[in-house]
Amino acid sequence: MQISQTPSLTLHDYHPRAADMREEILSGLHATQKILPCKYFYDMRGSQLFDAICEQPEYYLTRIELGIMEARVADMAAALGPRILLVEPGSGSSLKTRLLLDHLHQPRAYVPVDISREHLVAAADHLNRLYPELEVLPVCADFSQPFALPPPRRAAVRTVIYFPGSTIGNFEPAAAIRLLKQLRRLAGPEGGLLIGVDLRKDRNVLERAYNDQTGVTAAFNLNLLRRLNRELQSDFDLSRFRHLAVYNEAEGRIEMHLVSLDNQSVRIAGESFCFREDECIVTEYSYKHTLSGFAALAAKAGFAVKQVWTDDRRWFSVQYLIPN
Ligand code: AVI
Repeated sequence: MQISQTPSLTLHDYHPRAADMREEILSGLHATQKILPCKYFYDMRGSQLFDAICEQPEYYLTRIELGIMEARVADMAAALGPRILLVEPGSGSSLKTRLLLDHLHQPRAYVPVDISREHLVAAADHLNRLYPELEVLPVCADFSQPFALPPPRRAAVRTVIYFPGSTIGNFEPAAAIRLLKQLRRLAGPEGGLLIGVDLRKDRNVLERAYNDQTGVTAAFNLNLLRRLNRELQSDFDLSRFRHLAVYNEAEGRIEMHLVSLDNQSVRIAGESFCFREDECIVTEYSYKHTLSGFAALAAKAGFAVKQVWTDDRRWFSVQYLIPN
């Protein structure tokens, strides 16, 4: 871990080495079902495209979660309690975070954690300006790996992890349990987890959300190949792949793919890979949970559900979990 200092920020940097990315990408592409880990979506452009996805009318998740927050944030702040250390893994520059920060009672510090250093520093700088009284302690890390929290200047009553956006949905059940366990360790025995969880619903609503008409989700998906071209010296021709997102009802998940439009061979990090016409590379799973299914998953990670807030249609939930 490296600590770097600018006049306005102290950055705790655990950034994964490029070698890790190369290994992960190559091993995913050597698998029978080729897969590219979705965490690599979020370079600078990918993070901007994700912000644009959140504005698309079809992408109901952000809008509904924000609506739940707006309606219930006072209850949430009361449940979390005063003088907390708020930690946000995979933080963006989100309105939801500001809403929460605006309602917390004397928060001790805010720790945004993100894999994309540029996005993290820009968001932390912005928050520093908006909340001059609040200590902002950015950590650049892969939040699925263990890392230590920077100590705030003033001791906190408890650590609460804020994990909105249904990012937990991007982890397969076993990995979700591992991640929840890691968040539980981070929060400590007195801490808590405020988490956004997308719920099961009509297939059409789900598929529209991941196939927006403007094509922003498609651009987000394809940008992964652009990133590999730049960072792993690969030679993907983006015009020879297309975006595909379908709901797998049996698994309760949206599956995003990049589909090869013809038989082709691509050089990636010094190796050659063949793609058949219509062959799919899995780029992301986005699980949709039931309330009882998520409670069971959380219990396996040592969490009990303390409170659940949903919208009227029960499309999305914000849940407060505490160690059980
Ligand atoms: C970040 N995550 C919760 C998003 C999702 O809905 O699974 C990522 C995303 N992929 C396509 N659109 C949005």
